[in-house]
Amino acid sequence: MFKHWKLRQKFTAILLSILILGLSVIAIAMGFILKADTENQITSQALILMETMNSVREYTSSQVKPELIERSNIEFLPEIIPAYSAREVFETLRKNNPEYRDFFYKEATLNPSNLRDRANQFEKVIIEKFIQNPDLTQITDFRSGAGGQLFFIARPIQITKESCLQCHSTPEKAPPSVVERYGTKNGFGWQLGEIVGAQIISVPAQKVMSQARQSLVVIMAIIAMVFISVILLVNYLLNHNVVRPLKQIVKVAEEVSIGNLDADFEQLNEDEIGSLAEAFRRMKVSLAMAMNRLSRINRPER
Ligand code: HEC
Repeated sequence: MFKHWKLRQKFTAILLSILILGLSVIAIAMGFILKADTENQITSQALILMETMNSVREYTSSQVKPELIERSNIEFLPEIIPAYSAREVFETLRKNNPEYRDFFYKEATLNPSNLRDRANQFEKVIIEKFIQNPDLTQITDFRSGAGGQLFFIARPIQITKESCLQCHSTPEKAPPSVVERYGTKNGFGWQLGEIVGAQIISVPAQKVMSQARQSLVVIMAIIAMVFISVILLVNYLLNHNVVRPLKQIVKVAEEVSIGNLDADFEQLNEDEIGSLAEAFRRMKVSLAMAMNRLSRINRPER
């Protein structure tokens, strides 16, 4: 099949196969690299936010709470609760920055004091996982949300301190102002060592992933353009330097073969094709001389 192909067709076919193969390999490799990169980016974003929220919690329990409780005769304020301050700080972040609208933070709890912390179906499944595997310290995954794909990090909330039970064991033990504000129905009955919920941070992944996909398309388009330019250039050079001169030589050789010894080769480059033309030219001169001699020998006999 390839026997009947012209030089340019052969070169183009070979280069095109390299182009297609090369582009596929590059696309697969770039896909892997970009995927790892976006996942890294999303994960670190979520981790920073998670650690920031934990710092807010820490600050509240180590600085705000002792100061407020000791320096005043206030028995209780939600502002001294780490869960409350972390959630409020995060809501402020979301409210003031439209670009963080799709970020979520929740201390999802099966039986919470504040009902806005009640675990939904998805969060319940995560909390169950933590309860069934007490050694599990973190779950990370993607999930679909209203605004597209979200990446989340979840960590268990375990009651490790006796002091927590002051407000979370029975309404009788809790400060009256807590009961007054949150009621007696929920947020009680927690046990020491129990996993009561999960701290979950969700960050949007859709935008970062589609940006990565866009970069992939742009990179592939640039590489394809370079490849195609190379193919066109090779085609042009091949035509200009090889195919056209060869066609000329063929034409002259055909003229000579039917007896037109005046046909001559054009001035050609000094490359291999030029040498070929030069060799043909010399052959033609020798041929002409031989013909001349022959006709001189033959004439007197006539
Ligand atoms: C002074 C009483 C008090 C103490 C002590 C206390 N909590 Fe709470 N906790 C609350 C109140 C009130 C809320 C609800 C805050 C809000 O409005 O968001 C809360 C909320 C929470 C939440 C969020 C879920 C929910 O119930 O709304 C978690 C998780 C939590 N507490 C864990 C703990 C842990 C762990 C400790 C011990 C280190 C602890 N709490 C100690 C009163 C207390």
